[in-house]
Amino acid sequence: MTVRVPAKVNLQLSVGPPRADGYHDLVTVFHAVSLYDEVTVRPADRTRVLVTGDDVAGVPAGRANLAVRAARALATVGLRRRGRPAVEIEIRKRIPVAAGLAGGSADAAATLVACNELWRAGLSPAELREVGARVGSDVPFALLGGTAIGQGRGEQLTAALAAGSYHWVLAFASGGLSTPEVYAACDRLRAAPAASDGEEGPGLSMALMAALRSGDPAEVGPLLSNDLQPAAVSLRPDLRRTLNAGTEHGALGAIISGSGPTCAFLAANAAQARELAVALTGAGVCRSVLRVQGPAPGASVVTTASR
Ligand code: C5P
Repeated sequence: MTVRVPAKVNLQLSVGPPRADGYHDLVTVFHAVSLYDEVTVRPADRTRVLVTGDDVAGVPAGRANLAVRAARALATVGLRRRGRPAVEIEIRKRIPVAAGLAGGSADAAATLVACNELWRAGLSPAELREVGARVGSDVPFALLGGTAIGQGRGEQLTAALAAGSYHWVLAFASGGLSTPEVYAACDRLRAAPAASDGEEGPGLSMALMAALRSGDPAEVGPLLSNDLQPAAVSLRPDLRRTLNAGTEHGALGAIISGSGPTCAFLAANAAQARELAVALTGAGVCRSVLRVQGPAPGASVVTTASR
């Protein structure tokens, strides 16, 4: 059973103060893009994970892997009366690791969909999202896909009314950023005397919602926002150059995706995205670039053989 699952960028990421449980209340607008991991699950004598792809060094093995945790969570919830079957989980990785693109959550989401089918567990999409939320804050969105508003830890989703298709250029950095470390840096920056934001709960940008309904990237671009961006840039000052290079070469919007370090640039159309990708490569401000489109569908079973 093979499932394809998209990466995400955040069009808005507004972060509240830290909660008692260590998480932060968010208002975010998730947007799935056409960069996919593929996950295959097969019955096995014990649950294990195999990862293939270009850059898999940072992917945890065994229980620390979110896909393994997802399979275990589904077996516990979905198969209570039927034992706990083991699976081999093969992840073909294209979404870079620790990049702010929710690749680990994507693999967990794909594993939930694949095991739900393989085991005929019969969970509904809403039930799968509930199990996914226990595995990671971004897992429910990787199941849903499209463009959606996330609240709470990011796991409470409402589909957003978004028109059209958006052309993005992703600029990948060498190395990753740890999400907890970026949130901690955000808290530290806000505790500094000059910082004034973050005192009130985060709110959804109505201007961004209207722009998304219009489907016009020129309206959406200037409204992209990410409260984690100053924290990510403080940990990786080189990202400032990457963002500036995109803006100088005509990107309608330039933003760090999630906790970074991937930078996402919104282009007016496919031709401008091609030009921007060439310019960013030439400027030498990132490890590599990739053109993608959003919104992309959430985790879904691949019906034809993919290899
Ligand atoms: O939920 P997930 O395990 O993906 O979150 C990873 C880490 O990101 C958390 O341990 C926490 O440090 C941080 N986080 C947060 N607030 C959120 C989501 C994630 O502080 N809403």
